Amino acid sequence: MTVRDILKMGDPRLLQFAEPVKAFDTPELHTLISDMRETMAAVNGAGLAAPQIGINLQLVIFGSDQTNPRYPDRPLVPKTVLINPVITPIGTDEEHDWEGCLSVPGLRGMVPRWAQIRYTGMDETGHAIDRTVNGFHARVVQHECDHLIGKLYPMRVRDFTKFGYTEVLFPEIGDVEDD
Ligand code: NI
Repeated sequence: MTVRDILKMGDPRLLQFAEPVKAFDTPELHTLISDMRETMAAVNGAGLAAPQIGINLQLVIFGSDQTNPRYPDRPLVPKTVLINPVITPIGTDEEHDWEGCLSVPGLRGMVPRWAQIRYTGMDETGHAIDRTVNGFHARVVQHECDHLIGKLYPMRVRDFTKFGYTEVLFPEIGDVEDD
């Protein structure tokens, strides 16, 4: 397993549409996912999309627990590998909350997201995933899957009075190196 470099905003590879994964349960896919898990853990991320390490595939991983110092108050999200995802909003309600991104280090912004979604896709062995979720879980999925269509969260910010440096907005979290 290898900790990979995370691309930062400004890199054109973060602005692409990702290609669907066609082969499941392959050594290459398992190695990629292992590298992504290790990369995400090394920086205490709550999620990571393959394009963030320069792999233009429709693959995201996410999951968090209360021990994550970047999101100490957030509820548990099951550790998930999600491939070729499709997101469908349920209803039209939006929620606004702070987001950060490993590709936008040092900043946070207030981002509107669908409050409730259904998401479908595959895991790494090709088994179907079909979940209906809300709250932080729904937010993480929408954030990560945005990376697969070339969207970074600042592109979703509507109120730029709520966008700034993490160490200023949230001094209690401090100058975390990653987000
Ligand atoms: Ni991100």
